Amino acid sequence: MNFASRMSRVSVSPTLKVGADADRLRRAGVDVVDLGAGEPDFATPEHVKQAAHDAITANFTKYTASSGVIELRNAVAQRYRLDHGVDIKAEEVIITAGAKQALYNTAMALFEAGDEVITHGPFWPSIGDQIKLADATPVIVQTHMEDGFCIKAAPIIEAITPRTKAIIVNSPCNPTGALISEPEMALIADAAAARGIWVIVDFTYERLIYEATPHNLIKVLFDRMRDRTVICSGASKAYAMTGWRCGWAVGPKAMIAQCNVIQGHATSNISSITQRAAIAALTGPQDGVTAMLDEYRKRRDAVHGWLTADPRFVCVKPSGAFYLFPYVADLLSPTGIRSTGEFAELLLNEVAVAVTPGEGFDAPGYFRLSYATSIERLKEGCDRIKSFVEKLESTGKLTAAR
Ligand SMILES: Cc1ncc(COP(=O)(O)O)c(C=O)c1O
Repeated sequence: MNFASRMSRVSVSPTLKVGADADRLRRAGVDVVDLGAGEPDFATPEHVKQAAHDAITANFTKYTASSGVIELRNAVAQRYRLDHGVDIKAEEVIITAGAKQALYNTAMALFEAGDEVITHGPFWPSIGDQIKLADATPVIVQTHMEDGFCIKAAPIIEAITPRTKAIIVNSPCNPTGALISEPEMALIADAAAARGIWVIVDFTYERLIYEATPHNLIKVLFDRMRDRTVICSGASKAYAMTGWRCGWAVGPKAMIAQCNVIQGHATSNISSITQRAAIAALTGPQDGVTAMLDEYRKRRDAVHGWLTADPRFVCVKPSGAFYLFPYVADLLSPTGIRSTGEFAELLLNEVAVAVTPGEGFDAPGYFRLSYATSIERLKEGCDRIKSFVEKLESTGKLTAAR
């Protein structure tokens, strides 16, 4: 069929594919331990759900302004004022169907054929594919397990060419859980400001940072280059609201207006009911966010401990988000399993554990394990992964654990 040529440049989101495969098995009655899902297992907080019920009862069920109701745009602005000390006006905010649409609108508004857009790898696949959908070229600067996948300014600045239109930074990063430090962000901002390059921060996991770490990227960027900064984030991860589809982009008024032109033709406003719920999430009590973070921290420490007790699983302890990203290439090489895609398929089919292969993140040799699930299921999942590795061992394909 004669699809548009851009379709040959992109592929199905690998993270969504894992979910679909796991779902198929589950529907067939298999007890799948799903460590693939990039979403909180917690319920959306009660007061947020109540606000949605109230919106329906009040018949708040019509179209709203395409960019979102003013109360929600103000709520986003107020959240950043309280959390980061920056002053943002409602016209600098657009409400989108998740951070994904915020990033997509931004890509469509800014990138075109001939542009290069720098980001760091391993990366969340939609970042690369959205750049390609906008006809631009992703330029990937790799981060390295040896130094905790830290996002460093120097290699990013070195990758700048006269064609560079933007730099996208994802911190905390999916899949590595790494952060960029404020000084490194400042170096990138200074280099970008001097060359008229946009900086886009995917701040989706902004509320999921485990140790007290200075991470006021908005202030760092606003102080240096507010006129070319876009912050994309959303309610999905912080408030356990993935299915509600609420995100936002914060940027210069003119840029947000362009995003609204795109959104106005593509999807219009997000659900009016979700908007009321998101206002409650952003302006209501925030202790639920901290409680979830505390629980994720416990899980991170437990799963990291269980996995790395076998030295064949080499794994950085992540600073943020809710993923572990173990390196297993050396473990797999004597087995004849050629990729972590194949490894993930075998794990699913043989021991019913869903993980996401590293190839999807441009990181062969790794797989991503989400710890956004209960500690019991995580233990079960780790036990099954280890039993699978032991089975490989018993077939003589692996040498015994060192
Ligand atoms: C790095 C990153 N950015 C953006 C998103 C999009 O999240 P949402 O559209 O649910 O806000 C995700 C979701 O997994 C993500 O991992």
